[in-house]
Amino acid sequence: MRKNIVAGNWKMNTLLEDGVELASNINDALKSRKSNCDVVICVPATHLVPVNAVIENGILGLGAENCSEHEQGAYTGEISAAMVASTGARYCILGHSERRQYFGENNEQLLAKTKLALANGLTPIFCVGEVLEQRENGTYNDVVRSQIEALFSLDAEDFAKIIVAYEPVWAIGTGKTATADQAQDMHSNIRRAIASKYGEEIADNTSILYGGSCKPSNARELFSKPDVDGGLIGGAALKADSFMGIIEAFD
Ligand code: PGA
Repeated sequence: MRKNIVAGNWKMNTLLEDGVELASNINDALKSRKSNCDVVICVPATHLVPVNAVIENGILGLGAENCSEHEQGAYTGEISAAMVASTGARYCILGHSERRQYFGENNEQLLAKTKLALANGLTPIFCVGEVLEQRENGTYNDVVRSQIEALFSLDAEDFAKIIVAYEPVWAIGTGKTATADQAQDMHSNIRRAIASKYGEEIADNTSILYGGSCKPSNARELFSKPDVDGGLIGGAALKADSFMGIIEAFD
């Protein structure tokens, strides 16, 4: 059966010392109370090694927020999937809407990144989601379906390793959460799209996270929906208390 997962996406926040302290506080909080979900923090690349040194395997998973679509070589400033894996990280967010929107990442690049992440043993947290205009003009299901279909050239064994995150762009950092019913509808559409390509078993086993202004006060209702298997958390992941509050929604 699929896992429930709460993953933090720190984005471009925290200086090193603060980030290490936050990770260590989250690790300690998780040690003192058993959680009913897997917990992952995806942190800036500069923080991966020092954060890995203060968290414990089996308690808190570590991920990057992006990796290069190239394997290695003359790509100044880029960080490869192999480099991410060499830090001890086991996850990598890919296709976040901020990467798509501000850095022009397209489906072809995201497929290349996903393949490299998988080849290096990383679990991709693959983000999809529509913008407000697409929500309003009713094309949102098609938009998200085509974002997922961008991965459908993967073989079943590889696709089965992916975590999907549905993040409606209009809900990210805006305080405007999708309703639990809107999230459930989309998650079930995503699961159906996966089932039509890879079959019911893989679809049933794929964790689909919701992201976009998820916080302790709304997490329980969102996570109570049958196809919502946890959250990808931005702002509320930057404080141990609010992040733990979301994790406790699975109690
Ligand atoms: P938010 O961000 O929780 O701050 O809305 C979520 C995300 O972008 O992953």
